[in-house]
Amino acid sequence: MTSKRVAVIPGDGIGPEVTSEAIAVVEATGAPVEFEEFGINSGRWHRGEDLIGEEELERLDTSAGILLGAVGDPAVPSGVLERDILLRLRFRYDLGVNLRPVRLLPGARSPLRAANAESVDMVFVRENTEGPYAGTGGSFRVDTPDELALQDSVNTRRAVTRAVRYAFELAAARRGHLTWIHKTNVLTHAGRLWAKVVEEQHQRFPQVEVAYQHADATCIHLVQDPGRFDVAVTDNLFGDLVTDLGGAVAGGIGFLPSANIAPDNQHPGLFEPVHGSAPDIAGLGVANPTGSILSAALLLREIGFEEQATAIEKAVNAAGTAGRLSGKTREISSAVVEHLDR
Ligand code: NAI
Ligand code: MG
Repeated sequence: MTSKRVAVIPGDGIGPEVTSEAIAVVEATGAPVEFEEFGINSGRWHRGEDLIGEEELERLDTSAGILLGAVGDPAVPSGVLERDILLRLRFRYDLGVNLRPVRLLPGARSPLRAANAESVDMVFVRENTEGPYAGTGGSFRVDTPDELALQDSVNTRRAVTRAVRYAFELAAARRGHLTWIHKTNVLTHAGRLWAKVVEEQHQRFPQVEVAYQHADATCIHLVQDPGRFDVAVTDNLFGDLVTDLGGAVAGGIGFLPSANIAPDNQHPGLFEPVHGSAPDIAGLGVANPTGSILSAALLLREIGFEEQATAIEKAVNAAGTAGRLSGKTREISSAVVEHLDR
């Protein structure tokens, strides 16, 4: 098998701590992957440098995928690192789908009494480029009593179709159930387009059962009856909110992986744990690396190493069953490596 080059952006705070453990786990699977590290982090902002250099961009462009730890530094103005690193790559590669599996792992404790491994096992597909996050709108008559701020929700047939089609494919490969989430009762224009696209794609996947839920009601159901969700698809803003709630239900942000992928082009995907740089625990060696390890598994699956991806997911489960997904960062990753079936 020819080896593939994976770009690694460890980033800030606990990012480097968890990423190095994810790399160790991937290496232990024997996947033919070569890692190339990029020092893209807040240090550059402090030194007045560009966050990503042109040559680095070219290297990133031609990588098979990108594994990111986290970016975030309390001393950098809010939004700068997100915009110049995460959003920049997301838009450059047109990463139209944000995939967030939410699974209650053995050994993880959900705040919900009724939660268990069967009921909390779902995947959210979040549209990743549009909605209210597209950045269109404007401010008018600023600093006057008539000040006006507009923030539009952008919904194109192309991007909605891309996310919805991906969700149907996933649902067909899992339990054959898809929930789409919106606020069609008030956001009627966007809602109509989403409804039409869901209907169209449903015709291509008649075997998938489709349910609709309002975004607010989703928050109730996720807490009271998480088992009703398997695959769920929604727009950028609703997806941001409900996946955080899903993460809480799954027993903690340190366990959750995510993937930003481009289902309709050849650009590299960006894979990262859901958590941020956690400055409060950075450097202590206590960050949970599970989210990063599972993100690396999603990356391996996306670039064609299904066997190694599944091996990692099984090892994480087995380590959890053995009660070993808590403790210090290194202890957790060693437990995962020990449970790899080799
Ligand atoms: P955070 O996710 O970094 O931390 C929230 C809480 O969860 C903290 O108490 C932290 O200690 C804990 N936590 C997070 N990951 C953990 C892990 N793996 N193991 C154990 N505990 C963990 O979110 P916060 O505090 O809102 O943001 C910190 C910085 O990270 C900010 O600068 C923010 O902008 C950035 N951030 C970056 C993200 C990214 O790179 N994709 C995502 C979210 C936030
Ligand atoms: Mg969020």
